[in-house]
Amino acid sequence: MVINSNIQDWVPWMRRVIRLALLADGQTSPNPLVGAVILDSNNRIVGEGFHSFAGNPHAEIEALSQAGPLAKGGTLLVNLEPCCHDGRTPPCTEAILKSGVSRVVVAMNDPDPRVSGKGIDLLKKAGVEVITGVLEDEAAFLNRAFIFRNKTGRPWGILKWAMSFDGRIGLPNGASKWISQKSSRERVHALRAKCDAVIVGGETVRIDNPLLTSRGINKVEPLRVVLSSSLKLPINAQLWNTENAKTLICYGPESDVGLLKKLPNGPEKVLLDQSSPSKLLELLAQKGCNKVLWECGSSLATSAIIENCVQEIVCFVAPKLLGGVSAMTPLGDFGFTSLEHVIPVKKVSTYKNGNDFVFTMLLNDKDL
Ligand SMILES: NC(=O)c1ccc[n+]([C@@H]2O[C@H](COP(=O)([O-])OP(=O)(O)OC[C@H]3O[C@@H](n4cnc5c(N)ncnc54)[C@H](OP(=O)(O)O)[C@@H]3O)[C@@H](O)[C@H]2O)c1
Ligand SMILES: [Zn+2]
Repeated sequence: MVINSNIQDWVPWMRRVIRLALLADGQTSPNPLVGAVILDSNNRIVGEGFHSFAGNPHAEIEALSQAGPLAKGGTLLVNLEPCCHDGRTPPCTEAILKSGVSRVVVAMNDPDPRVSGKGIDLLKKAGVEVITGVLEDEAAFLNRAFIFRNKTGRPWGILKWAMSFDGRIGLPNGASKWISQKSSRERVHALRAKCDAVIVGGETVRIDNPLLTSRGINKVEPLRVVLSSSLKLPINAQLWNTENAKTLICYGPESDVGLLKKLPNGPEKVLLDQSSPSKLLELLAQKGCNKVLWECGSSLATSAIIENCVQEIVCFVAPKLLGGVSAMTPLGDFGFTSLEHVIPVKKVSTYKNGNDFVFTMLLNDKDL
C-alpha cells in the first residue's frame, strides 16, 4: 500500500538526508555528497547513513546495513540517484534490490554519465516504486561542485578575500595582517576544510608565507597549490613542509625550470600547457578536486574570474577604514570602459560574524 505518494510528504525526510550528506562536506571528492534514510513500512526511521570518504561505502549501503531486515517493504530516501556501475565499491542498485525495499525516493538524477538515469530505470524495471524530484533544487545546490565538474571538466571555484569597509585588502605599504577578526579567520579555516584545494600565486608565497591549512578541522587537509610562472619562489616556505598537508607547484612552459632544483622535494611539481587558472583547474579536476578555494591576491583573482574559474565569492568585510589611493584592492583591472559591461553578482546573502560582515554571492546563477 502506498502511504505517501505526494512529493511534499517526503520533504522532511529528504531534509534529513541532505543534512546527513553535509556531514562529509569536503571529504568525498571526487565523489558527491550523499546521505540516505531508510523508513520501515510504517514510515519509522530504521537506518541512516552518509558517504564519508571516496572508497568508503556509499550512503545507501551504510543506511541499509543499519536497517538490516527492517528495510524489507520500506522506503529508501537518498539525495542522488543510486549508482548502478562497479566503481571502487559494487553498485548500490544491487544492494537495494536485495534488501527488499519497495520504494526509493530520490532528489535528483546523477550527472555522472555512467549513471545518469540508468540507476532509476533499473530499479523501476525490477518493480520498485521510484519517486524523483523531492527537494531537487536543494540537492543540486548541495552537490553544485560535483555537478559543475561533471558538466565542465573543472572544479567549482570559490574566491575568498577579506577587506575593509572602504574595499582595501592592505595598506599602501603592504601591511595586511589582520584586517578581519580572529573568528572570521577561523571561518576561513572551516571554508578550507570544505574544499579539495587552496590556490595562491607566487607573490602571495613570497610576501605572506601562508600555511593554508584548515588547522586540522578535517583529517585530510586540502591540497595547497601555488601557481607561479616565474618560479622565483623562496627556498624556505611553510608550504614546502608537506608533513600534514600536500603541496603542488604548477608552472608554465615559459618558466625557468632550473629554479625548481632549488626547491625541496616535498611538494609535487607539474608543468602546465600554460600558466593559467583554467589549465590549472583542468589538472585539479583530473586529480579529483570538486571544489577549490582561490586565496590569491588581486592579479591572479582577476585572471581567474576572466577565465571563468570563479563561481562563488566569499567576502569578509571588517568595519574599518584603511584609505590610501595606492592601497591594495581585492581585484585588478578587467578593462571595463562602461558600467554596462561590469559583472553583476547574483544570489547575494550576508550574515554578521562578530563585528565583521560576511557576504557570499554567485557570479552566474546558471552555474547551479
Ligand atoms: N586580503 C586577502 O584576502 C589576501 C589574500 C591573498 C593575498 N593577498 C595579498 O595579495 C598580494 C599578492 O597579490 P597578487 O595578485 O600578486 O597575488 P598572487 O596570489 O601571488 O597571484 C599572482 C601571482 O600568481 C602567479 N601567476 C601565474 N600565472 C598567473 C596568471 N595567469 N595570472 C596571474 N597570476 C599568475 C604569478 O606568480 P609568479 O610571480 O611567481 O610567477 C603572480 O605573481 C600580497 O601582498 C598578499 O598579501 C591578500
Ligand atoms: Zn552507490
